[in-house]
Amino acid sequence: MGKEIYYPNKDFSKQARIKNMCEYNDLMEEAKSDYEGFWDKLAKEKIDWFSPYTKVLDESNAPFYKWFIDGKLNVSYQCIDRHLDTKKNKAAIIFEGDRGDKETVTYLELYRNVNRFANLLKNEFGIKKGDRVVIYMPMILEAAYAMLACARIGAIHSVVFGGFSAEALRDRIEDANAKLVITADGAFRKGKAYMLKPVVDDALSKGCDSVEKVLVVQRNFEDITWVEGRDVCYNELVKNQSNECEPEVMDSEDPLFLLYTSGSTGKPKGVQHSQAGYILWARLTMEWVFDIKDNDTFWCTADVGWITGHTYIVYGPLASGATTVMFEGVPTYPDAGRAWKMVEEYKINQFYTAPTAIRVLHKTGEDEPKKYDLSSLKVLGTVGEPIDPPAWKWYYEVVGGSKCAIVDTWWQTETGGHMISPLPGATPIKPACATFPLPGIMAEVINKDGTPVEVGEKGYLCITKPWPSMIRTIWGDDERFKKSYFGDCVKDGKPVYFSGDGAVVDEDGYITITGRMDDVINVSGHRLGTAEIEAAVKKHSNIAEVAVVARPDEIKGESIFIYVVLKEGDGSFGINAELAKEINSIISTEIGNIAKADTIAVVPGLPKTRSGKIMRRILRAIAKGEEIKQDTSTLEDPSVVEAIQKAVNG
Ligand code: PRX
Repeated sequence: MGKEIYYPNKDFSKQARIKNMCEYNDLMEEAKSDYEGFWDKLAKEKIDWFSPYTKVLDESNAPFYKWFIDGKLNVSYQCIDRHLDTKKNKAAIIFEGDRGDKETVTYLELYRNVNRFANLLKNEFGIKKGDRVVIYMPMILEAAYAMLACARIGAIHSVVFGGFSAEALRDRIEDANAKLVITADGAFRKGKAYMLKPVVDDALSKGCDSVEKVLVVQRNFEDITWVEGRDVCYNELVKNQSNECEPEVMDSEDPLFLLYTSGSTGKPKGVQHSQAGYILWARLTMEWVFDIKDNDTFWCTADVGWITGHTYIVYGPLASGATTVMFEGVPTYPDAGRAWKMVEEYKINQFYTAPTAIRVLHKTGEDEPKKYDLSSLKVLGTVGEPIDPPAWKWYYEVVGGSKCAIVDTWWQTETGGHMISPLPGATPIKPACATFPLPGIMAEVINKDGTPVEVGEKGYLCITKPWPSMIRTIWGDDERFKKSYFGDCVKDGKPVYFSGDGAVVDEDGYITITGRMDDVINVSGHRLGTAEIEAAVKKHSNIAEVAVVARPDEIKGESIFIYVVLKEGDGSFGINAELAKEINSIISTEIGNIAKADTIAVVPGLPKTRSGKIMRRILRAIAKGEEIKQDTSTLEDPSVVEAIQKAVNG
């Protein structure tokens, strides 16, 4: 582990909310000595309650924890109405399109736009509290309006990333029994129009009986097919709606949204988030981790289809009354200076992106940041996958001018917001290290039985106490929720939340994430389950057996490597580009282009134990070109290892 330490910028620390490690330790101590008191104080201070809660935490039905019992609030009110007295003319969202078109929306305009959208949902489609609405949208303002409009009327939104295929979209619509799908004709990427509506048409061509209507926002105005009686155009209809819409009174524990994510087995899980706990933590992490201030302009480059987009483009920044930037395009178009040009133009203060983007920008435009005035930057963030030290250094020195803290934020769809991260004014940072749990978060690296791991030894990254923004359940599957997150590790005899990640703690107590311990792959920060990909590959008529593993990739972090055993082959084995095309085309139909494999190897068999379990560790080692160190004697047929090596290495 690196010994290099980067101390916070002194001027920054002076004005930061948490100024030094003493203040951090005090907060942590406060949480440890009176856990409920700690959260009670924050919830009272940070949320405008319609009516107060009667109890902070209910643990009676663990692990189905409940927070802020009987409290009433509305999340869109927290994000918009609450600011109107003091900030009505302040920019809430700054939108920039792929082709450079711009639009700034003030808090008052956001209020009107969201209310009109909410009225449309209520009046035209009869959407009411508790109904599920799927949002399959590009990165345009209407995606944020749609989310906030759902929150306003108490509908549960499920945003599906626009890169997912029709099949993947259909699965998510059906699992949630959605009544309405909100989409766009398409949008723009790299200067060209692309389409989304045809994917929705395809998804709805089979099943999806719950869907009554499709609301279509026209963005690129390309020709699309309109289905009579089902499809409704947003652009004109919304103009007739009233600017006022009473926010629905929601209970703290009513679901706010579902977001599907991959696990190690089976189909994606509908992670269910709450109202109060989620919005409290979204706001607090904006204040602690990004140290957001009233004059700041915050830019998170994620897509709203992922949790990062939910919490740090929409809910967190708006709950904090900040100005948030929403960008339709990619940071490398028209050139690798695009992101830095935007930082200069909008005087961005906090910039939050993924290591993959940092690596791409580093590789394709090492000196690009130097062409722009980036002096407005105060905090740089990274999320989604481990960042490697060279990319970290470039980000720190060239982008941040060696004066900005880098917050390497570790968290997950299930945690709602950051869990482990440096605090920019307080934490001495070690490169590529998530450092310490945030105040109130009892993240620990332990063995399965709850005992602490030795310094430098890999352990299970667990959160040993419930926290307000945690996943409440998997939509429609309480048993899977318990098994997925509370089935592996215990502490003091009680099941505790296991994240699926491994981590190590160094001699100074710093936590470094080592990556997933389960069969989840992280390609460019996109979380994919090997089981899902394997299920897709099996749809190919000539595949008898398949195993999907990850291989380290310089840009993407990990890439997908697939081993297949054919039903009928010509006896030749090895990397097969022809078959790869066929299989990737199936993957792209079943899941989306993000899950395509880089390499497909035809092998004579898979390494299996006598009980039939595939030894993926061996397959991972072969994919990486490593020596096999594992004991292969327990395999049903140890000779298969050599045969696979021969097939892969030629
Ligand atoms: O493996 C961890 C990795 O991303 C996983 C969560 O993925 P997802 O739910 O899609 O959410 C991504 C955005 C929060 C984690 O289990 N991960 C996330 N942040 C980091 C990370 N790995 C290393 N360092 C991080 N900072």
